[in-house]
Amino acid sequence: MSAVLKDAPRLARMQTGDLAAVLAIENAVYTHPWTRGNFGDSLRASYECWTWRHDNELLGYFVLLVAAGEGHLLNLSVAAARHRAGHGSELLKEVLVLARHRGAQHLYLEVRPSNLAAKALYSRFGFRQAAVRPGYYPAHGGREDALVLTLAL
Ligand SMILES: CC(C)(COP(=O)(O)OP(=O)(O)OC[C@H]1O[C@@H](n2cnc3c(N)ncnc32)[C@H](O)[C@@H]1OP(=O)(O)O)[C@@H](O)C(=O)NCCC(=O)NCCS
Repeated sequence: MSAVLKDAPRLARMQTGDLAAVLAIENAVYTHPWTRGNFGDSLRASYECWTWRHDNELLGYFVLLVAAGEGHLLNLSVAAARHRAGHGSELLKEVLVLARHRGAQHLYLEVRPSNLAAKALYSRFGFRQAAVRPGYYPAHGGREDALVLTLAL
């Protein structure tokens, strides 16, 4: 039994020392990735910044802000080589637990309409579209809207 638990991926608070590995994933999975400064600001602001690790391998991470009873999921990413293995779902479950624990009644996030993988993941968890932010994201050759998704916790 303990061997099974030991082998499972685990959450750990993101540290400055994780940023090289975090940025390697970030740069590989986004066309317009967060910068080191974005992660550094999130750490300094004491946002909920967590990594998802198996042994020494960084599988993914998330950044969550909870304030005034609302959670905002600012980043959730899984290493490209580990996609479609359930890690995104596990991480999202952890996000929901943490957001509830911190007193959020709703969780919000933004996603690109072109991000079919993320939209499918969030839809599976029951997120609904609450709004559209026109031209929110930079995109190759212009801007892309953001879909604002929400889930009651
Ligand atoms: C979105 C992301 C986090 C999903 O992580 P993941 O570990 O691959 O997700 P899971 O394996 O838990 O997949 C759960 C479900 O989501 C859906 N899904 C995930 N990737 C998909 C894809 N490429 N196409 C269609 N559906 C997909 C499926 O319903 C999947 O279930 P299934 O594998 O049983 O069919 C991952 O693709 C990622 O890191 N993308 C880059 C970063 C990103 O876009 N983050 C979200 C920003 S809003």
